[in-house]
Parts: sequence; structure tokens; C-alpha cells
Amino acid sequence: MAVEANGTTRVSVLGVGAFTQAMMRRLREDGAEVSAYLTRDYAHHGPLSEGPCITAAAEPNPCARLRRERPDLILPMSIEWALKPWTDEFLALNPPLLCPTGEGLRLERERDFARELCGRFGVPFARAWFVRTRAEAEALVRHEQRPCVIKNPLCSPTSPIHTIVCESVADTLAWLPRLDDAEGIFLQEYLGRREAGHIALVSEGEIYPLVTNQEYKRAFDGNLGIVAGAPLGGLVERDPGDKYGLVRELLTPLRPWFREVGFRGPVQVTAMLHEGRWHVLEYNVRLGVTSGPMIARMLANPLETFVRCARNESLAPRWRDGLTFGCNLTLAGYGYPFTQLTGPRVPVTVAGEFTCDVWWQEVAARADGVLEATGHRLGDVAALAGTLDEAIASAYSNIRRIHSLGSYYRTDVGQSLWPPGNE
Ligand SMILES: Nc1ncnc2c1ncn2[C@@H]1O[C@H](COP(=O)(O)OP(=O)(O)O)[C@@H](O)[C@H]1O
Ligand SMILES: [Mg+2]
Repeated sequence: MAVEANGTTRVSVLGVGAFTQAMMRRLREDGAEVSAYLTRDYAHHGPLSEGPCITAAAEPNPCARLRRERPDLILPMSIEWALKPWTDEFLALNPPLLCPTGEGLRLERERDFARELCGRFGVPFARAWFVRTRAEAEALVRHEQRPCVIKNPLCSPTSPIHTIVCESVADTLAWLPRLDDAEGIFLQEYLGRREAGHIALVSEGEIYPLVTNQEYKRAFDGNLGIVAGAPLGGLVERDPGDKYGLVRELLTPLRPWFREVGFRGPVQVTAMLHEGRWHVLEYNVRLGVTSGPMIARMLANPLETFVRCARNESLAPRWRDGLTFGCNLTLAGYGYPFTQLTGPRVPVTVAGEFTCDVWWQEVAARADGVLEATGHRLGDVAALAGTLDEAIASAYSNIRRIHSLGSYYRTDVGQSLWPPGNE
């Protein structure tokens, strides 16, 4: 649907891969003129198949283009826009960004800030500490005698530390010597496995709950293996009524702060049920890479909703009939989740026609059109349906059509961790 009374609504997606391809497709279908600024040097095939794209390599600073093209919506995949040599110039343009800036951005960027904020508003947050060095971390863990998850204190895709979920004191002590503590270390008490999340939009000081979600972050069936850098599967349930209470307990108390800092954009809370209460693990301030595309599919008016949110105006999200649940499955390539291992560019073939969304990640098209694997996450299959079982069945019937040597996917998404609160 058109948002502008006269003329086209222009959308620029900042990102790569499945997220960028999905957002371009869905917002184009909803009436936008779409383009992408490809922020990283991989996973270009999907976005390129949807519309015009500029790479960061060709144009390291997007500001001149934004000034010229004046998009009505800029949709970022990550918060890395905030850490660029061009960030100040970008913000001076007062861009219609679907992401908070300034104080609001700190909710995701600085883990210790989120902890402190929750303390201020009485929101349970998993007990956590920021320390400067490995030695300090070791002393703390020995003193506390608690298993700790190891995290980067400052979130960025290029952080020296990626989350390592340790489940015992000995696990934590074993991992600490391996860390690069250049930016310090954030230690957070391990709170088990009863996880869930909720994604909402905040605009004009109001919170608009959208979906409750679950991510299957462990690499292998049965929730075995390490917590991978990105999830292997995900479920979303349309939940504007906050059926599971995550909004009421973990977002609503922050409303005075959202208002105070003029927060506008997405907010996702990831939480763990511990001793009968949800505890925050982290907040994100953008649409997730796998849940974002499913939300855009479920909404009848994603373009209008996102444009108005980027402008900090009141929202009226509408939902498409019959799309209550979504299931996303990732096809992982050779070596994943151990990203140190890489394989050759083997073919990626598809048997028959897809019946749900398939968004390409690390694949490239050869001159003859054949796709080949170029990395660890080949693509995401995302199915929406009226029931959870239908969404899951559709996603599986589609992912089974894709073949690539050494690739794999989880076969048990939906069989654990759902409904929220279950292990
Ligand atoms: N304190 C914790 N207790 C148990 N598991 C955790 C804890 N913190 C993180 N995890 C697990 O690790 C995943 C990633 O951690 P998260 O804080 O979301 O950071 P990021 O997404 O930036 O890696 C979580 O989704 C959860 O599965
Ligand atoms: Mg997370």
C-alpha cells in the first residue's frame, strides 16, 4: 500500500543475505520501490535477485546516495551503521531509520547498560558483571562459584568475543583463557534452557507487541552441540495480546525510559524462565534476521507500519488472515557451526518448485545459472500458516528440496522449547 499521498515510497535495506532479500521482496509487494546497500562482502545473490543493489566496497559511504535518493524508510539488518566512519554524517541527515539512535541504541549495544536499566525499572535481568580482563573474570568466577555465559560487552558483528554458553564453573574457567579481552568481558550467570523472546515495535512512546518467538540456537537435533552464531531454526507466533507475558514483565516497565529517550523502532527481548520468572538475557533493537522476514509476511501493512515507526508516529499494524505461526529453517553448509572450517564451492540444487519463502544467504550464481555454496549458511526456508504444525510441515517439505554436499538442517524444530517456558 502506498504511504505517500503523492508518489512512491522508497525503501533502502542495509544488509546482505536472506534478511535483505526478504525485506526487499515483501516491501516491494506492499507497494514500495526497493533497493539495498550491501553492507558486507558476502551473501549478495539473494538481494541482487530482488532489485538494485550498491555494495559498500563500491561506495564506502552511502550518505551522498541517501541525500540524493531520499528514501522514506531505511531498514537495517544490524546495528553496524552506528559504528562507521560515516555515522555522524548519516545521523545528521535525520534518516528515517527503523532503529533507535543515541540513548535508545545503547539498549542493544552496551550489555551493562541494559543490566543497569533493568535494575532501575525492577525488571529481572540475569545476574551479570562487566570485567576488564581475563584475570578479573577468572577471579570473579572462582569467587562467585556460578557457571557463566561469556559475552561481548559491546555488541557488534565484529566483536572479539562471541557468546559462549558455559553450563558449569569448570566450563567457564576452561574457556576464559581463550578469550580476547581487548574490549573487556561480560559474564552472565547461566540460567538454563527455558528460553523465549518477544518482538515489539516502539513508536510515539507506545509499545506495540507483535510476535512471541523461539530460536533454535544449538547446532544439532535434540539441542545438542554449541550455541551457533546464528540460529538453525525459529518459530514465531502472532501475539499482539502478549499471551506469554513477556511484554508485560520485560518491556512495559521500560516505557518511561522509551519515552524519555524518544525510542522508536523494534525492540526484541530474549529471556530465560528461571525460578518461575522471566529474566532478561539481552535486548536487540532491530528486526531479527530470521524473525523479521516472517513478521513482514504476517503483517497486512508492513510498509506503512515500518515507515510510521521510523518517523515515530502512532501505529496500526494489521494482520493477514490465517498466518498465525511461522517456522524458519536454516540450511547450514559444510563446516557450520565451526566457522574455522571451510569447504569448496559445491553446487546447490533445487528439486521442483518451492511452496513457501526461500531466502538465499551464502550462495552465488555461476554464469550458467547453477547456484553454488560460498559459506556456512546457505539459505533460510520460511513458512507461514494458520497452525504451528502446518507451518513446520511446510518448511520441512521445502527444505528437503535443496541439496548441497555436506549441508544439514535441524529436523526437530518445534519438538522442544515450545510453548515458551518448556525445555
Ligand atoms: N545467561 C544465560 N543463560 C543461559 N543461556 C544463555 C544465557 N545468555 C545467553 N544464553 C544463550 O545464548 C544465546 C545468545 O545469547 P545472547 O545474550 O542472546 O547474545 P547474542 O545473541 O548477542 O549472541 C541466547 O539466545 C541463549 O540461548
Ligand atoms: Mg541474542
